[in-house]
Amino acid sequence: MVILRSVIVFCVFLHLNVCIPLDEDTITLGTLPEGLINEIVSFVTTGFVEEFYDCLNNSIFKEDDVKLLLYTPENPEKGILLNKANPTSFNLERPVKILIHGWLGHNNNVRIQGLKRAYLETYNCSVIAVGWSKYSHDLYSSSFCYIPRIADTIARLLCRVREGTDYKLNRIHVVGHSLGGQMAGLIGQQVQNLCEQKLGRITALDPAGPLFSYLSNDRRLDPSDAKFVDVIHTNQEYLGFYGDCGTVDFYINCGTLQPGCLYKKVISIVDIMNLPLHYVLCNHFRSMDYMIESIYSRKFIATSCEGCPGERLTGLCGEDVVSPKYTIMGEHTPLKPSFKRYFVPTNSETPFALGRY
Ligand SMILES: *[C@@H]1O[C@H](CO)[C@@H](O)[C@H](O)[C@H]1NC(C)=O
Ligand SMILES: *[C@@H]1O[C@H](CO)[C@@H](O)[C@H](O)[C@H]1NC(C)=O
Repeated sequence: MVILRSVIVFCVFLHLNVCIPLDEDTITLGTLPEGLINEIVSFVTTGFVEEFYDCLNNSIFKEDDVKLLLYTPENPEKGILLNKANPTSFNLERPVKILIHGWLGHNNNVRIQGLKRAYLETYNCSVIAVGWSKYSHDLYSSSFCYIPRIADTIARLLCRVREGTDYKLNRIHVVGHSLGGQMAGLIGQQVQNLCEQKLGRITALDPAGPLFSYLSNDRRLDPSDAKFVDVIHTNQEYLGFYGDCGTVDFYINCGTLQPGCLYKKVISIVDIMNLPLHYVLCNHFRSMDYMIESIYSRKFIATSCEGCPGERLTGLCGEDVVSPKYTIMGEHTPLKPSFKRYFVPTNSETPFALGRY
């Protein structure tokens, strides 16, 4: 059987202006520019060494490089490019899901498209995918610098959408992965500053950790950024943010390494060069796979985890065996959870949810 797969070619724009196709499912690490390889290898093997980073050259940002694509039940496949200056094309009657890809990501990557499909198959909603690959296909430390600018662009757009209407931004749910998770937090904060509205919900999928860990709450995702902030931790201390940053935090398999993904001890640097990017960054991307599955299923059962072992490299959160409380993780999590911190075990492959306590 021949499997036909549309090959979409994306580019990595580094300062050298080289253009290399980037698709997380096909590109191998070894074919990326050297600076990027070094960053990725450092993230997946040792975690990132925090240091102060100054975003000096952040002046070439162009709002036009941030694309918003609208998908609806009538128009599920090819996104309609929204005009940011005149956002009247928003259908305010439906609930809105805004999806934001992460570092090295793109609107058309399998997982963003998977989220979109899951939402349109589940709800009568509008999905808006934020495309910022002009800035995400770059060194992490460069992409990082654009996050506040892009967040501000989107926050101003959302405030403009509601001008002259009684539309409440609490009908909006933003789902962001990696740097997109941090961006979601900054959008939520900025709409409060600009038009005194609070987003309804932010779901951060392994929100980015490097360079954010020691920033104050107003420069990163925190529970005040929306009425409800749920966080799915899958690779904390490597690419993901270490520790609680939501109204409720889910630590999947303890939040650091995911079953079925490569563990750093079994890979050598030589070996990972030949692996596709989604393999190398598997722990970090898994948060999206779990979220997609959770839209269709209420079977990700989470157990409260107070008094966690807290041993850094083995994860922050273990199962609470003394007085466990249970909830559901993912899309259908109750917006008023009885606890703040949960542990979620999964299978090593799809379906990931175990569906039992
Ligand atoms: C930042 O700008 C300065 C001055 O234009 C330049 O010398 C330097 O190489 C730039 N750095 C980066 C990372 O682009
Ligand atoms: C979806 O919602 C829109 C706006 O509220 C409504 O006009 C439409 O009839 C709904 N479609 C279905 C299939 O319920």
